[in-house]
Amino acid sequence: MILPAQSEWYKDAIIYQLHVRTFSDSNSDGVGDFRGLQQKLDYLEELGATAVWLLPFYPSPLRDDGYDIADYCAVHKSYGTLEDFKAFLTAAHERGLRVIIEMVLNHTSDQHPWFQESRSSRDNPKRNWYVWNDTDELYRDARIIFIDTELSNWAWDPVSKAYYWHRFFSHQPDLNFDNPEVREAIWQVMRFWLELGVDGFRLDAVPYLVERDGTSCENLPETHDIIREYRRRLDESFPGRMLLAEANQWPADVCAYFGHGDEFHMAFHFPLMPRMFMAVRLEDRKPIIEILQRTPEIPQNCQWSIFLRNHDELTLEMVTDVERDYMYDEYARDKSTRINLGIRRRLAPLIDNDRRRIELLNGMLMSLPGTPVIYYGDEIGMGDNIYLGDRNGVRTPMQWDGHWNAGFSEADPERLYAPIVSNPVYGYQAVNVDSQKRSEHSLLSWMKRLVQVRKSSQVFSRGTISFLDPPNHRVLAYVREYGNDRVLAVNNLSSTSQAVELNLRKYKGFIPIEMSGKTIFPRVGELPYLLTMGPYQFYWFRLRRI
Ligand code: NOJ
Repeated sequence: MILPAQSEWYKDAIIYQLHVRTFSDSNSDGVGDFRGLQQKLDYLEELGATAVWLLPFYPSPLRDDGYDIADYCAVHKSYGTLEDFKAFLTAAHERGLRVIIEMVLNHTSDQHPWFQESRSSRDNPKRNWYVWNDTDELYRDARIIFIDTELSNWAWDPVSKAYYWHRFFSHQPDLNFDNPEVREAIWQVMRFWLELGVDGFRLDAVPYLVERDGTSCENLPETHDIIREYRRRLDESFPGRMLLAEANQWPADVCAYFGHGDEFHMAFHFPLMPRMFMAVRLEDRKPIIEILQRTPEIPQNCQWSIFLRNHDELTLEMVTDVERDYMYDEYARDKSTRINLGIRRRLAPLIDNDRRRIELLNGMLMSLPGTPVIYYGDEIGMGDNIYLGDRNGVRTPMQWDGHWNAGFSEADPERLYAPIVSNPVYGYQAVNVDSQKRSEHSLLSWMKRLVQVRKSSQVFSRGTISFLDPPNHRVLAYVREYGNDRVLAVNNLSSTSQAVELNLRKYKGFIPIEMSGKTIFPRVGELPYLLTMGPYQFYWFRLRRI
């Protein structure tokens, strides 16, 4: 079943990001699978998600948790079969839930048959599918991304006695996008999944598709040409499907990936994310306003995607050196929580399990411009396990209930792909879906209400934003407008109570209605509008001309 091509559905989406492996294990082998996930669709629906984004589920040696693909058109056997995937997709679509999958096109695993062929001899027909060189001298201006593990972007291949290019781990050789055969092969992969009915792709590591000597090998015009061509083919054969860019770049460079509305539909706003955490710690709105003011307008048919946490580290690539030091000092004093240029923690542990800050950050996530992404488990305040290597600490099994293996699996606990978090603060006995369903005051119940309110008006998903400039810098206030709908969001970024005077002269005579309780507040008059706010409190007011 293919969902009807509803125009610009991605703008109004609530995306739930999850890894099949981490979610629910139906066959008791200790690893989550598609059948398990399918059984949990009720949960996603109840939360209010309208789309799921799945991390890579393809055959892979799993040395980068599946971002090292060995076969693009199949399912990793631990997660089930292609038939299981299809059944899951149909079940998701029956509920109107869209499915976004990963297209890791920049590189493959070194186990991929393409690479095996390519390395087998210098005159193999697939030799030119990867980026080979006799020395490691080319492309010197390209930075290293995984600085904790890689010393060079070149790796020596003892089989064919040459160097191959890789922007990530050395076991992930980059495909050669200058080769039309590669571009076609990747399109055929996309076609395969599109024909099955997937609603969109997150394109991984987009800026690095093409290399040119003397450049940073990022965001090159040739890369944009390739994307434009994929988009053209997508629109031609699969209208209504969506492309989402993973381009961890400054706003102006990411904006280029929207093109003239003819490249990506959506792109993550990477620089905004750390600044939300920064603003809360500094108790000052400046970092958020500054980055959003530096963000150019995007074409009408495009949309930002925004997030608090994901499966990777809280990346600090798109901040200044001073800002990075500040973030490390405030959020990663324990050095073992740092990785590459970032912090490998989940939302709740980052902010010391402070419910008020969790709510405030989610409030901003749901009211700032863009489509929000909720990272699995953050809706119940799951913790992490920093003793697991790489970024695995934020990818532990979903905590469903207080029983055996947190309800994730019936396998022996030793057999799980990763241990369940079980410390006294974040352990599954304390933090789980089942217990939170029983309380109207749990984080989960609160998140459901927040999502519901967000979905009650397209002003959040499609509206413009204008910032107010109250003298109290600890308060971030903005008005979102879409047609005749207006919402005023006011966020107290501080740990103490604050009073704020808002200049609402433009809305004189309007009545603010607090959206979660539908409470009527005093009419806006001549004088600055005075609000008092508790620590980390936020308000959403619908402004009604009554
Ligand atoms: C970005 C993904 O989010 C990350 O998890 C992965 O390690 C790199 N791309 C390399 O594929």
